[in-house]
Order: sequence, then C-alpha cells, then structure tokens
Amino acid sequence: MVADTSEVGAVAESAVWELLRSNPEAVLGVATGSTPGPLYQALASRGKKFPTVQAFALDEYCGIDASDPNSYRSTLLREFARPLGIPAEHVHVPSTSNDCKDNAADYESSISEAGGIAVQILGVGTNGHIAFNEPGSSFESRTRVVELTERTRRDNSRYFPSISDVPRSALTQGIGTILEARKLVVMAFGVGKAAAVAAALEGPVTTDVPASAIQTHPDVIVCLDLAAASSLTRSHR
Ligand code: GLP
Repeated sequence: MVADTSEVGAVAESAVWELLRSNPEAVLGVATGSTPGPLYQALASRGKKFPTVQAFALDEYCGIDASDPNSYRSTLLREFARPLGIPAEHVHVPSTSNDCKDNAADYESSISEAGGIAVQILGVGTNGHIAFNEPGSSFESRTRVVELTERTRRDNSRYFPSISDVPRSALTQGIGTILEARKLVVMAFGVGKAAAVAAALEGPVTTDVPASAIQTHPDVIVCLDLAAASSLTRSHR
C-alpha cells in the first residue's frame, strides 16, 4: 500500500520489469481501464522498447469496431503497445467479429500456443469483477461472451458519449483462464474500489465477488493506494 497512483504504478511495474528483463519474449496479460495506466507509464519511462514481447488482452467489447477508439484493441495499442515499442501484431485481443460468436475457443488456443501467460495485470471493478467476469461467474469459467451489468456499464460510461453507447456484452477471458497465468499483479486505486478490494482480499472466496478468486492463486502481488486499501482490516504484507 502506498500513497499515490504513480507510486503504486512503480511498485506494480517492478514485477513486470523483472519478467521482461529476464525474458524479452515474455507473454504478458494486459488489462484496460484506467487502473493499469500508471504501470504502463512507469514501464515506458525506462525508455526501453520491447519488440519481442507478446501481450494478450483480458477482454473486448462486443458490438464496437476494433478501430473504434473505445475498443480495447485501440486502447491497448495507444496506451500500452506504442509507448513500449510492442508491434501491433503482438497484441492479441479477442476477436469480436461475427457478433463475438465462435471466437472464444480460438482465443484460448492462441494463449496456450504462446506458452501461457507469465504475468497477468488485473484491475478490479467496483462490483468486484475481474476482466468482464461479473458477479456469479464460475471460477472455472473460460473465455466466453458475457452480458455486462448495469453497474459496469455505468462505471465505464465515462469513456462513451452516453450510457446508451456502452456495449451490453463483451468477450472475456474466464476466471479459470485468468487463474492459469503464472503470476497475477492486481492493482486498484481510489475509495470507489475500497469495498471491492476488501471483499476480494478479506471476504470469503465466492463467485459473488469474482476478484476473491485471486485468494486461490499461489503467486499474487496486490498494489493499492491508501484509498483503495481503506476498508481492509487486517495487515497484508
Ligand atoms: C473494466 C475492465 C476491467 C477493469 C475494470 C476496472 O470494465 N473490463 O478489466 O479492470 O473494469 O476498470 P478501471 O480500471 O477503469 O477502474
């Protein structure tokens, strides 16, 4: 736990940097949303390019074109790949063509063929979701099409002209898929995440709180600012 977002980003970045330094061909799992920005910025500030890294997105909206600035492909290219010198063809995002149908199995296969994800970067939704696995998602779930809750659509509406423009469904890695990453780096900022963070770290392991699944993973780093950590009651080292 540290005071501000750039410090949290730096702490999270050190775990990712460790991996990329030792393996320039590493396979990274990447999140979108506002949370991972400070990590990506800290990595970019090293001034090093990573032309042989492969990256797999957690999820993608259905019903918006990949070229739309709000697609997760566009977001990752803009905020992650270009600043780090990662070629666009090394950024893998679930294909949402054909209304998202039939693309989930291919995405799972491409992760396996790449050797699996070494480090998965994760944010947490205010309702405790990870990727787009909303409350109630099975911990064994695999990549699939999901309906987004109104809360998630409302939270994410800040990126869109209005809530009616926020897609209603997405293609997301499942919780079972995410848990296969060899290491998880979980980040959260702000008091709006405090309840979800406390439930995820100190509450029961339950599908009501998808992020509580991280308690079952053997190698997790959680990086929080003080506001996101403010509802924790135990000491975490
Ligand atoms: C989004 C994404 C998640 C992200 C989470 C938090 O809906 N699908 O991968 O971690 O919600 O978003 P933010 O970081 O903007 O708070």
